[in-house]
Amino acid sequence: MSRHLLSAADLSRDDATLILDTAAELARIADRPIKKLPTLRGRTIVNLFYEDSTRTRTSFEAAAKRLSADVINFSAKGSSVSKGESLKDTALTLEAMGADGVVIRHEASGAPHRLSGWIKGSVVNAGDGTHEHPTQALLDAFTMRRHLGSLDGRRVAIVGDVLHSRVARSNVLLLKTLGADVTVVAPPTLLPVGIENWPCGFSYDLDAVLPKADVVMMLRVQRERMKSSFFPNAREYSRRYGLDVARMAMMPEQTIVMHPGPMNRGMEIAAEVADSERSVIVEQVANGVSVRMAVLYLLLGGSASAIGGPPVGAGVGVDSLADVGVGAGAEPAFAASANAPHPPDTGLRRRHTDAVVAAEFVEPQEVS
Ligand code: NCD
Repeated sequence: MSRHLLSAADLSRDDATLILDTAAELARIADRPIKKLPTLRGRTIVNLFYEDSTRTRTSFEAAAKRLSADVINFSAKGSSVSKGESLKDTALTLEAMGADGVVIRHEASGAPHRLSGWIKGSVVNAGDGTHEHPTQALLDAFTMRRHLGSLDGRRVAIVGDVLHSRVARSNVLLLKTLGADVTVVAPPTLLPVGIENWPCGFSYDLDAVLPKADVVMMLRVQRERMKSSFFPNAREYSRRYGLDVARMAMMPEQTIVMHPGPMNRGMEIAAEVADSERSVIVEQVANGVSVRMAVLYLLLGGSASAIGGPPVGAGVGVDSLADVGVGAGAEPAFAASANAPHPPDTGLRRRHTDAVVAAEFVEPQEVS
């Protein structure tokens, strides 16, 4: 069993369902006055962020803290990275300080995969370059399931800067696994070469796709990743691919609007749409905490000693969700208490595609 979550492609349908079901159990504690479980007591999680982030970093921090883990927030700005320290040396330093899990965001595609070969702890990909962002896809699927029930046969439109979007890549992979029917919509310049080989449909015509969609997920136009001009100007882009009130009226009544954030209001999404009743954007953020709790729980705590730490139930660490009163009355989602047999393999398996991605990652040159 893999100790890591590097790509949405690593998740089987059973894995993904286990994470989403566990997140649903954990979401219940968000309604309690004291939002804390002792599950990862004594474990240390490092948030290793080489790129700017608001919601993903704080969401992982909140998730780890709600599970009682110790959290170290590392931001590349203001660290020895500016003195030329490599990712490997930084990671080994943090591991020497006792990190059991590392949550990494990096501008290079493949960085989390490389990291997973260097350290003993679990690695969670919190966004690598234009490659993947698996926990975003999981929280999106969680949000969709809450509104639509099963995702089998549901039609999801992912609209905008697909070319630069790790969110789109992870969503296409995960939604396919969960049985949804995905169409990516963008101008031809913002769709990757080889899009016809992705496990989804594609279209250049947003107005044709909207009337059939159950979910419309808008993507941010990622100007910071654009090295040339991909469309004439912002107004032209918004006119063809922005979701405004008139376009929202073309969607079926129950269709939900999503956005991973941060939004460019007035560009890919009008403020009236972002703030409308169909928008579940704020809910996505709240769900992110529950989903990341589930991921950390299953990787670091839910399976016996996956990272070579003390055995489950040895005084520190893991309590089953039922032991701490989540899912009262029901079977624990994932029993891992001292007396319980080891839980089934969650099968968070790594696939060989990661090796291909890893080739993209180039270790920075040594600075003398
Ligand atoms: C996304 C990201 O950073 O990949 N945001 C997020 O994690 N919530 C999308 C984006 O930056 O546009």
